[in-house]
Amino acid sequence: MGCYTRGAVIPVQENIRLAPLTTLGIGGPARRFARASTEDALVEALEVAGDAGWPRLVLGGGSNLLVSDAGFDGLVLAAAIGGVTFTEAGDGTTRVTAGAGVNWDSLVSACVGRGLAGIECLSGIPGWVGATPIQNVGAYGQEVSDVIARVRAYDRQTADVVELSAADCGFSYRTSVFNTTARGRYVVLSVTYVLRDDAPPAIGYPDVARAFDGRAAPPSLRDVRDAVRRIRASKAMLLTDGDADVRSAGSFFKNPIVDESAAHGVDAAAGAACPRYPADGGVKLPAAWLIERAGFGKGTRRGRVGLSTKHTLALINRGGASASDVLSFAGEIQEGVEAGFGVRLRPEPAFVGFPDDVVRRFGAVSA
Ligand code: EPU
Repeated sequence: MGCYTRGAVIPVQENIRLAPLTTLGIGGPARRFARASTEDALVEALEVAGDAGWPRLVLGGGSNLLVSDAGFDGLVLAAAIGGVTFTEAGDGTTRVTAGAGVNWDSLVSACVGRGLAGIECLSGIPGWVGATPIQNVGAYGQEVSDVIARVRAYDRQTADVVELSAADCGFSYRTSVFNTTARGRYVVLSVTYVLRDDAPPAIGYPDVARAFDGRAAPPSLRDVRDAVRRIRASKAMLLTDGDADVRSAGSFFKNPIVDESAAHGVDAAAGAACPRYPADGGVKLPAAWLIERAGFGKGTRRGRVGLSTKHTLALINRGGASASDVLSFAGEIQEGVEAGFGVRLRPEPAFVGFPDDVVRRFGAVSA
């Protein structure tokens, strides 16, 4: 272990395996690794690494990453900044500010416990707070962009700490400026969410509504949180330690957004009506449906990788898998769906440590 310092001392370890730090359990070593538990330590570590010319990767909960077998030849920094504050605004809302390293589901649980509405349907999602604005985390009818008031971030371009409004973040489905136009520029330090005091839970999403069918009393925030966790578990999207059937990065592909004529083409090719939802000026098709009808059923296996027995969007590490196993299976799925339906799926997890041409070929984004 070495120490690289300007003001604070930041212990830096060498050759740390990244696989155990990801939910897929895959990935080679980080050349250097440090854990920053305060804003100052994180900013300082970024600046020290910048001065030294090391590539930098900021790591959160590791739940949306595919790390290459070669690992990362630079400094991996765990953004383990803690702390949660609740400030009543006096207008029926509470501002909740959480450090980037706060476990997301613990935050949801704490908010539900205080009767704060707005993120109850985002229960059971793995990972840390800092990642939520980056891919605009969403599920069961809610997206964090609906409730984000402010993102505090370190701007690598100007070396300043900045405060971004929701509009500055440019949110849409699974995207923001952080993973598109300004990718690599900002490091999220904390996020402020505005939640409603004593408001009813959101139960508009069909799966959630169905959980309360035939029930007379309106469900509480806690009831909805519990129902969403049950639904996620039934779809292999509640990651449980030690269960290979859910050893995944959640949804491996994004749901493609296409125009009406492409959607009709899918129906014609499938000989069935593909479910669809309006989104971002087009129609969103379920990638899971396309994968299943392209011949990759639940529980499909390819050696050490496969699809979960509960959901075709969860590409799983069945045990001892490598990143190249994942890539070859992911490529087979992309080709199968494209050949069958003329739609190219794009990976949802960010790629780490792969050559640019590989990232481009898969239509992925680099972390
Ligand atoms: N379906 C299949 N086969 C399957 C599973 C689903 O054909 O094995 C079809 C069904 O027609 C189903 C449709 O796909 O109606 C949609 O499935 P589901 O309701 O499970 O939602 P999803 O579109 O697969 C998305 C998000 C999830 C989020 C859920 C609930 C993406 C890429 N995924 O999944 O987010 O939890 O909706 O809102 O947008 C994640 O991003 O990692 C994630 C888990």
